[in-house]
Amino acid sequence: MDQISKPASNSAASPIALEVARRRTFAIISHPDAGKTTLTEKLLLFGGAIQLAGQVRAKKDRRSTRSDWMAIERERGISVATSVMTFEFGGHVFNLLDTPGHEDFSEDTYRTLTAVDAAVMVIDAAKGIEARTRKLLEVCRLRDIPIITFINKMDRESRDPFELLDEIEKTLALDTTPMTWPVGRGRDFVGTMDVATGGMRLLDGDEGKTGPLRQMSMAEIAALNITLDEGALEEELTLVREGCNPFDLDSFLEGHLTPVFFGSALRNFGVGDLLEGLGRYAPPPRAQQADARRVEAEEPRMTAFVFKIQANMDPNHRDRIAFARLCSGKLQRGMKAKLVRTGKPMSLATPQFFFAQDRQLAEEAYAGDVVGIPNHGNLRIGDTLTEGEEINFVGVPSFAPEILRRVKLPDAMKAKKLKQALQEMAEEGVVQVFRPTDGSPALVGVVGPLQLDVLKNRLEAEYGLEVGFDMSEFQLARWVSSEDPKRVDEFAAGNRLSTAEDLDGDLVFLSPSAFMIGYTGDRWPGIVFTDVKDVK
Ligand code: G4P
Repeated sequence: MDQISKPASNSAASPIALEVARRRTFAIISHPDAGKTTLTEKLLLFGGAIQLAGQVRAKKDRRSTRSDWMAIERERGISVATSVMTFEFGGHVFNLLDTPGHEDFSEDTYRTLTAVDAAVMVIDAAKGIEARTRKLLEVCRLRDIPIITFINKMDRESRDPFELLDEIEKTLALDTTPMTWPVGRGRDFVGTMDVATGGMRLLDGDEGKTGPLRQMSMAEIAALNITLDEGALEEELTLVREGCNPFDLDSFLEGHLTPVFFGSALRNFGVGDLLEGLGRYAPPPRAQQADARRVEAEEPRMTAFVFKIQANMDPNHRDRIAFARLCSGKLQRGMKAKLVRTGKPMSLATPQFFFAQDRQLAEEAYAGDVVGIPNHGNLRIGDTLTEGEEINFVGVPSFAPEILRRVKLPDAMKAKKLKQALQEMAEEGVVQVFRPTDGSPALVGVVGPLQLDVLKNRLEAEYGLEVGFDMSEFQLARWVSSEDPKRVDEFAAGNRLSTAEDLDGDLVFLSPSAFMIGYTGDRWPGIVFTDVKDVK
């Protein structure tokens, strides 16, 4: 597990430590429609990236149906550019990593969460916690990622805020501290009060603002709307102050408590407070765990890991962009790095930064930053780059697929080409490929059916391969491990017809049912089946 590194004190800090201290690398997690896209646009506006608003929305709208999605994926420029958005505000450098909206791409989303230090959880005030939010939060939990909550759509009819806080506490086992409190509900929502100071921000007049709050008496607040009653307001705010948990930075940084902001992304209301909260409370880049040791963000030598690969614009050249998160040191354009998996040196000639629609050569980058590294397929998800040190970052996960299919290739002459193509698609994280131990044709595994469409489409467009998919006798795949490596070999030898190797050569048990997994587990003491694997 990663350790939280507390905000470093700036006195006598090295230039690297100063750069690290002002970085905030985060993602937004939410259920579709809660307002992630709208909030992203508004956050970017604070960073001065005025034209971006349209860009983020254009991408989302064009992704809304399957066929549109395929078209947009072909124009990969936009999706590459919006994978990470960097902006500056209030002296901080924010790196916002996009988590793909479509639920089929949850695997990509999960991996993205391995590259952030904090997450903003957006909740629709009328709906509360929804399924996907819960799932994504579980992933954040695995890595103790601190969560800041934004309860959105306060301009509409919403649920009682106490009830919403209670739901977060009960269903997510996360303590809450309201940092702002909504005054009035639904159509009568007039603004939010800063719980600590009692200062007000008004929906009409203070939209999009940060900084100083209005100091108003309870009577003045009550006079804003006929539905507000001074006594009832007073009572509610006393309840908030006395009944809710006080904010505790350590508990937040450990992932046990979430500060909660109320607002309306659409009205650009409360977004500034959220952003200031991110700058103030979210941790700077944390230490990252590698196999041999823990790597501190302020260390002078550059280290990074790849958490996402995206095919670039020109399919004929098999160009890919590897998204690498810097973990320590300073990346300088033109420097040589070592790709630890192969031991080979790699020149970082054209690392790139992304400013939504813009890309720029990254002359230098620091821990917490994400750079895109164009390459011809030599970088894989989970790869570690260093200045020579022999370490591998751990914790970029692979998830057991929920759908398994055999690839059907009508033209048998092209089997070798298919093998190569599947290898490349697996390295890119488009699908997982399992090669059965008995030598039968490869199986592909995906988390959602859209991934199969993408695979079929890309095999045709980029490799000239027409394929179909056959149902497989196997429904589930589980990684096989044991404290005793010999036991894994014995298991492989005893189950030749229902085992396979994944991309890294690790053993996978293929099963027709969950029952069979339990049954086989009982028959093979010492063998452990897992549905998540750390990519090395
Ligand atoms: P997502 O990325 O999480 O899927 O959500 P998105 O931002 O696209 O928001 C989903 C819908 O909710 C959009 O409406 C958006 O305008 C609306 N919305 C977002 N934030 C707020 C808010 O604070 N208040 C209100 N009232 N609505 C909000 P839509 O009709 O689906 O799309 P559009 O036609 O407005 O673009």
